[in-house]
Amino acid sequence: AAQPQASDQRESPAVVAHRGASGYAPENTLAAVDAADALGVEWVENDVQRTRDGVLVVLHDTGLKRTTDVEQVFPDRAPWAVKDFTAAELARLDAGSWFGKQFAGARVPTLAQFLDRLERNRQKLLLEIKSPKTYPGIERDIVGVLREKGWLDRSHVRSRLVVQSFGADSLKTIHALRPDITTGYLGTPAVADLPAYAAFTDQINPSYATIGADYVAAVQRLKGPHGKRLRVNTWTVNDAAKAAKAQAYGVDGIITDYPDVVRDATS
Ligand code: G3P
Ligand code: CA
Repeated sequence: AAQPQASDQRESPAVVAHRGASGYAPENTLAAVDAADALGVEWVENDVQRTRDGVLVVLHDTGLKRTTDVEQVFPDRAPWAVKDFTAAELARLDAGSWFGKQFAGARVPTLAQFLDRLERNRQKLLLEIKSPKTYPGIERDIVGVLREKGWLDRSHVRSRLVVQSFGADSLKTIHALRPDITTGYLGTPAVADLPAYAAFTDQINPSYATIGADYVAAVQRLKGPHGKRLRVNTWTVNDAAKAAKAQAYGVDGIITDYPDVVRDATS
């Protein structure tokens, strides 16, 4: 009888904890980083934005209402946009209670605090520039904090850092500022347009609902700005059946709120 060939087996995709292990702890907090670490997950995705006084902070929504107690603390500051608050004001907010009372007192971390925690845990970072048009010049600020915190040294850049965005211009800016940084475009460009993306991005990171095996293969046939084949990380895959399908499509990574579920389904 024919023996199963190694080539029949799809390699396990990298598992990326979306906003930290956000199925188990409040998204984009240090608790969510630690929850990923407790599960043995190396890669953490997070979202970066900027305060009124120019501090980079880790938060998904451009508003503070959904994931903090900002309405109680600052009742007169509607619509509670991140960009309208100072870092000192943000530090007063509880970013954990909405998720569960055991997380009361969790804070909106600064990017610097977030990087320190990842470093302590020896984790890797998929950093999303969220809503770049809201924050002109944020790319330079991000590069500055990454440099200050040691995340632009050779070993970090080579294997522990990817910067991604839905904004192609933002990625082009990152690539121009620091050509050594690995970049990822969030979205599903038409196959005919992929070569243009390959000039400035190393990864195409599409929504799971938009892809199949053919698309993944079309991306992976191309080489990115660093001469390596483009990689595909898909999001946000939270159940075992979809994770197995994504693996069958041949993706390189799966971004998930439940990294243990995805790991079990794909290993
Ligand atoms: O990493 C992919 C994913 O995070 C993009 O969507 O809305 O969760 O930031 P969103
Ligand atoms: Ca994100």
